[in-house]
Amino acid sequence: MKLRTVIKGIGHALPETVLTNDEISQFLDTNDEWIVQRTGIKERRVCKLPHEGTGFLASVAAKEAIERSGVDPEDIGLVLCATVSGDYPWPATACNVQDALGIPCPSAFDVSAACAGFIYAMDVAAAIIESGRVRHALVVGVDCLSKQVDWTDRSTCVLFGDAAGAVVVEGQENTDRGLIETATFSNGAGALHIAIEVGGSKYPFGSPQAEGKKACITMNGREVYRFAVKAMGDACERVLEKAGMTTDDVDLFVPHQANLRIIESASERLGLTEDRVFTNVQKYGNTSGGSVPLALYEAEQEGRLEKGMNVMTVGFGAGLVWGANLIKW
Ligand code: UT7
Repeated sequence: MKLRTVIKGIGHALPETVLTNDEISQFLDTNDEWIVQRTGIKERRVCKLPHEGTGFLASVAAKEAIERSGVDPEDIGLVLCATVSGDYPWPATACNVQDALGIPCPSAFDVSAACAGFIYAMDVAAAIIESGRVRHALVVGVDCLSKQVDWTDRSTCVLFGDAAGAVVVEGQENTDRGLIETATFSNGAGALHIAIEVGGSKYPFGSPQAEGKKACITMNGREVYRFAVKAMGDACERVLEKAGMTTDDVDLFVPHQANLRIIESASERLGLTEDRVFTNVQKYGNTSGGSVPLALYEAEQEGRLEKGMNVMTVGFGAGLVWGANLIKW
């Protein structure tokens, strides 16, 4: 029987500092009403304390996931970190997590797929598990985009927050639980719709080429919005089709938490009513790689996710990339 990639434990991590819309409006020309109307976001968490950052949040979430899974860290053969905001441009944050948790010598690397990172990383973990090469993997989604936004640019900084979520997955036979199906996509032609241009090999910091360009997140909001609504619907329809399922089979829809309007539009297209859609963007904003696993964590904590339920997750982001996973919880 086919090996299935089953979630054994889930964890999360959030920075201590809450930053509300009203607090942002004290240093920027914006207001709670605009932000809530356009995005649904009321507040977000930001890494302010000296010890807080991507590696730290990733390790806290991973520790909780391992504890809740009951899996011995020595049995974890693969550590994946979905992030675009590592502690360093390199080495990989996955190695930081490996070291912090004392996991002995697993394969460890980062997956760079921005806000679709967790969707992609689950796909990669499942492929490796299903090949039989490892039995247990740790998959972390984490980002600290508060460190990458321009805090004077009201069109981007209000959107993002910091968070991590993590799962321990196990290859199991004779079960219908686990990752049922996955569908991932990309279109590099839209690369500059949301990007950090400076700091790579094309526009190195301080180089003449980098002059006039920004070393923080720039985004064409309207373009990304249009892409997001279509990408979410397309990815979900594709993953359902691949699985031979319809939206009627979905017990809970857990989309990337970027913007409440985007989630509502995608849910409407898919015919999913509010009672089957999980949102927490109001409290955390867009936490990029952390968004989907944090939402799964909270959904489970709130009793909205139970064993055997069909969960559809979907993400989209810089790349452009997008994708969806169907999981039997
Ligand atoms: O994971 C992927 C991450 N990215 C996204 O998901 C972003 C997708 N895009 C969006 O969510 C929306 O495009 C935004 C929320 C970013 C913007 O909403 P919008 O309805 O597309 O607004 P807009 O960019 O068309 O701007 C409308 C107005 C502009 O003023 P004028 O030119 O009409 O006078 C902006 O300057 O709103 C102004 N504006 C703001 N006003 C108050 C932009 N940001 C703000 C702000 N506060 N924070």
